[in-house]
Amino acid sequence: MRSLILLKPWAVSRGLVGEILSRFERRGIKLAGLKLVHVNREKAEKLYLVHKDKEFYEGLITHITSSPVVAGVLDVPFDDPDGAVSLIRKIIGATDPAKAEVGTIRGDYGLRIDRNVIHASDSPKSAEYEIPIFFNGDELVNY
Ligand code: PPS
Repeated sequence: MRSLILLKPWAVSRGLVGEILSRFERRGIKLAGLKLVHVNREKAEKLYLVHKDKEFYEGLITHITSSPVVAGVLDVPFDDPDGAVSLIRKIIGATDPAKAEVGTIRGDYGLRIDRNVIHASDSPKSAEYEIPIFFNGDELVNY
């Protein structure tokens, strides 16, 4: 099962890309795609469409478009897609870094909910929607 991750501007500018990616690699989760990208407003609006009516929407857009992010597609070798998403969510931790468990990515590297260091698809359906925003089919590999 494949899922999108974005290492957000604070993760890239603070030099945490290697540390964060290693969390997934150490669990045996493979990368199917990886790139450095400066997200434009159009892509950001598509990604955060479900949050359009939230009060923090503009802040989310401003932050993700402010400086480069690392976009990745993770490949979790589970037959159960919901189980794969749950494992990724467990590794990244709760949305609010102040509440995320120590040992999770957000719990170890995050400080503010409006400057989260990582985004990950929250369901198989959202993964299917989000991956094509950042990757063409020929940019993803099986191995
Ligand atoms: S999650 O973990 O991403 O699925 O969490 P979710 O609750 O769906 O939040 C979606 C994104 O909105 C950000 N967020 C906020 N930003 C600012 N202020 C508040 N109160 C707030 N609540 C949620 C959160 O960091 C998520 O960003 P991404 O890029 O998805 O991590």
